[in-house]
Amino acid sequence: MISDRMLIRGGKPLSGLVSAQGAKNAALPAMAASLLLRGRRLKLSRVPDLQDIHTMAGLLRHLGAEIEFSGGIMTIDVPEDLKWETPSDLVRQMRASSLVLGPLVARCGRAVLPLPGGCAIGSRPIDFHLKALSRMGAEIDLEQGSVHARTGGLSAARISFDFPSVGATENIMMTAALTEGETAIENAAREPEIVNLADVLRAMGASIEGDGTGTILVRGSRDLGDAEATIIPDRIEASTYLLAGVITRGRVQVGGIDPGHIAALTAKLEEAGVPLDIGPEAVSAAREGLCWNGVTIKTLPYPGFPTDMQPQIMAALCLAEGTSVIHESVFDSRYMHVGEFRRMGCKIDIQGNTAVIAGVPRVSGAEVHASDLRAGAALILLGLAAEGETVVCELKHVWRGYEMLMDKMRSLGADIELLPCDGPEGALDEAGG
Ligand code: UD1
Repeated sequence: MISDRMLIRGGKPLSGLVSAQGAKNAALPAMAASLLLRGRRLKLSRVPDLQDIHTMAGLLRHLGAEIEFSGGIMTIDVPEDLKWETPSDLVRQMRASSLVLGPLVARCGRAVLPLPGGCAIGSRPIDFHLKALSRMGAEIDLEQGSVHARTGGLSAARISFDFPSVGATENIMMTAALTEGETAIENAAREPEIVNLADVLRAMGASIEGDGTGTILVRGSRDLGDAEATIIPDRIEASTYLLAGVITRGRVQVGGIDPGHIAALTAKLEEAGVPLDIGPEAVSAAREGLCWNGVTIKTLPYPGFPTDMQPQIMAALCLAEGTSVIHESVFDSRYMHVGEFRRMGCKIDIQGNTAVIAGVPRVSGAEVHASDLRAGAALILLGLAAEGETVVCELKHVWRGYEMLMDKMRSLGADIELLPCDGPEGALDEAGG
């Protein structure tokens, strides 16, 4: 059992160096890409040990893959024969389960996928994925809450997304990698995780150009081979620790990252007056008691400010001087954390997808509940800065995305402890969540 509640004794400046984990959102599509193989092996390095990674591993095992995972190294052996029906108990735990849809259709000619779950951050349809798969020749039906996809053979196509969806771009890149001919993906997502997936697919033998730009060209092959690849550093985890230093008036350095991946955050911190030191593979933010100013932020697809950092930057801006404004343009309803923030003394006014934050000099500890992964991380940040004791409940969301969070925070000087489980509602088991 992992505890589901954390006690934080706040008010201590966090200082020191932490290294970034491998990126959850790069590891999940890389794992799904293994399904394109037939009697072959994919070996991935720097895979973070997280709940979502175990959920994806469970899904791949259900489909027939054999997986070993230890010390950040994951080997996935994919047999000649795969199952193509996915189990709803695993799929409903994580939206990224939808990433197996394209690979299964391309590899098996059919797939059944219950409509996936995931973080509670607004309506999250997969219509772009389905429309693009049908343009490539899949027949798609929705029956009893599940997507049923089948095809007599896919063909390359020109796909143009209405919005640069990360998951839809990944699903179609993988599908196209096993489809002969050249597929063009326009208005593609440009996130670093897309480039990492392209590297995995190239290592398998697909030809891909343009990843990291708005147009990706994939020339597929029916015979992809054994491959090895390394997962990129987690820019969201790294950014969260950087803000842990900022919000507590400390000085945190995050190492083992590509500073270019977090440029949207560092630009805003500089604008707000936080002194930064940006090296080739590390960034440090030294607030050390300095005041910093409110800023205006709009979440956008990469290279814009990431929506996955919106709750954490909001937590920090609650304690900045003056007023800040955040426009959330990627998801509807991604302000579920605001009610909990207010319980700690934050002053936030929400109108539609805009939040106006009046900076306050201090916040105070309270019992608060995490509604999703990044909301949970943001509540931990607020608790670290708050006067008195904070208890953050429903940490099961946080374990989905932060590896060794207790150790890393403590190494920076955080006074935190996990509270004992108080029965089935206060705990989750490591396999299920
Ligand atoms: C990925 C990330 C998630 C991040 C998000 C945006 C993973 C595993 N998850 O999620 O952490 O918050 O990118 O950076 O990498 N949309 C549709 N129809 C679709 C697909 C998306 O309307 O078929 C909408 C979504 O509802 C949302 C927006 O497009 O409003 C962005 O979603 P998308 O980029 O697809 O996010 P995910 O891939 O789900």
